[in-house]
Amino acid sequence: MKRILVTGVSGLLGLNFSLQTAARYDVYGVFHRNQLKDVPFELINTDLTQSDEVDHILDSVKPEVVLNCAAMTRLDACELNKDLAHQVNTVMPGKLAKAAAQRGIFFVHISTDSIFDGRRDHYSEKDLPNPINTYARTKLAGEQRVLEVNPQALIARVVFYGCSLSGERSLAEFFYNHLSQGQTVRGFADVFFCPLLVNQLSEILVEMIELKLEGLYHVVSSECLSKYDFGVKLARRFDFDEELIAPVSWHDVDLHAERAANLRLCTDKIQSALGKSMPPQAEGIDQFYKLVQDGYAQSIQSYKTITDNVPG
Ligand SMILES: NC(=O)c1ccc[n+]([C@@H]2O[C@H](COP(=O)([O-])OP(=O)(O)OC[C@H]3O[C@@H](n4cnc5c(N)ncnc54)[C@H](OP(=O)(O)O)[C@@H]3O)[C@@H](O)[C@H]2O)c1
Repeated sequence: MKRILVTGVSGLLGLNFSLQTAARYDVYGVFHRNQLKDVPFELINTDLTQSDEVDHILDSVKPEVVLNCAAMTRLDACELNKDLAHQVNTVMPGKLAKAAAQRGIFFVHISTDSIFDGRRDHYSEKDLPNPINTYARTKLAGEQRVLEVNPQALIARVVFYGCSLSGERSLAEFFYNHLSQGQTVRGFADVFFCPLLVNQLSEILVEMIELKLEGLYHVVSSECLSKYDFGVKLARRFDFDEELIAPVSWHDVDLHAERAANLRLCTDKIQSALGKSMPPQAEGIDQFYKLVQDGYAQSIQSYKTITDNVPG
């Protein structure tokens, strides 16, 4: 069985990926502040920004693959602590990528759609990024460091939703939690994205790892939509009252970090590498509905031990 080290294992992607692949891979998951319990894989607790940790972990685990899902993802927290964002999103991926290259370990780095400024219609891998906030700037610098020190690395620019440890990490959980209680919410009608369900993304990452793809890929849904439309589609699938969602403009909401409003990414490159289309929205939302009906959300939250939702 292939041994894989997953950083950010307490996060939305790291946890879903590790649970989903634990029977296929020998998974070692690294968490920082959010301790997990009773998970079907090995756990390592460390702060990856500490100098010797990366080499030490790779030498003791000896993985064949490293999947780097660890990041400082909260946009406003990144604005408030730019130095920590730089350490976690830029320096740490570079260190991991270099240490992996030195040991012949395949390195997979997770990046973001947010490295674009949102001023164009669509973005392919050939388009020049222009990040407009600290999170995006540090993530783009992370991509660049990874490729400088490890040209064989795979970088996936993603955006996703699903069930998280806290039950409130993703946009789907935000809509679900409010609408299921009959509460009104606002949805941005002028912010566009192409999210995948995290479980779909995990399967696609497995295929990319098995094919040992190298370089940069946009790994998102083939269908892009506004955040408001995403909420409406979700409400319809769950039979919630879609009138509870008020369409608003992001200009009308006071946000600390600037956001890119149009993150429609082209998926041609990944589609031709895998020989299939990226899933459309209805497929992901239907799978999310079934997971929630089957108690998957509660089962994910049952792995939680101490406080989560801490910045980082
Ligand atoms: N969520 C999205 O829609 C989205 C969109 C675009 C790109 N991405 C990218 O996808 C990846 C995964 O995102 P996510 O939403 O799953 O993240 P998340 O839920 O915010 O989790 C982040 C993870 O990083 C870990 N971490 C942070 N600082 C660390 C440190 N110093 N040492 C070790 N671990 C550390 C956290 O550990 P603790 O919680 O244990 O402290 C946590 O497991 C990230 O690269 C993110 O930039 C996400």
